[in-house]
Amino acid sequence: MNGVVLISGNGSNLQSIIDKANSIDLTICCVISNKTDAFGLKRAAKVGIPYVALDETLFDSKLDFDQEIMKVIDNYQPGVIILAGYMRILSADFISKYFGKILNIHPSLLPKFPGLNTHQRAIDAFEKKHGASVHFVTEELDGGPVIAQEFVNIDSTDNAQTLAKKVLDKEHALYPKTIHWYTQGRLKLIDKNTATLDKKTL
Ligand code: GAR
Repeated sequence: MNGVVLISGNGSNLQSIIDKANSIDLTICCVISNKTDAFGLKRAAKVGIPYVALDETLFDSKLDFDQEIMKVIDNYQPGVIILAGYMRILSADFISKYFGKILNIHPSLLPKFPGLNTHQRAIDAFEKKHGASVHFVTEELDGGPVIAQEFVNIDSTDNAQTLAKKVLDKEHALYPKTIHWYTQGRLKLIDKNTATLDKKTL
């Protein structure tokens, strides 16, 4: 299956997907960033994947920017759109156009801690466990049906940085695994609240 990956920064999840692309039946046809200096663009360039960086400061509105991204995406007719550290809220038009085809990885055990600064918020809330979630993207921010999660323990010595590293390590295995379910056609978004794996509700 052809996939487009959207990033904003380091792209370590992108790297884990690049490394496993063959074994998860995925061809990454383009990497798109909303930050021109995202390190992930270098990762794409290094392995010859086409990439596009759009400077978000040059667009008047969220919709203008997303329309440009949609033009790029539609050149490739991808079967899946993979958000990998894409730190920009998508417009309603974008989400409805590709409904059921957009996956995201989020660094918390959703529905806990949607949004930003998840690691510090988990520590501040005295959580004992934290982790990462892969979910379908719907209009509700970090609110689409969860597909799979991995957890880590929060130790008394952890701070936001050590916790972020632990969670990222889990993400690098979790995301390719769930993308593979999708490329195999096993994973479906039925409606904004329901996803199935092998026809069983998750
Ligand atoms: C990852 O932890 C990912 O879960 C998170 O950003 C990081 C990106 O790291 N995504 C979000 O917070 C999305 N709301 P990476 O650029 O090294 O893959």
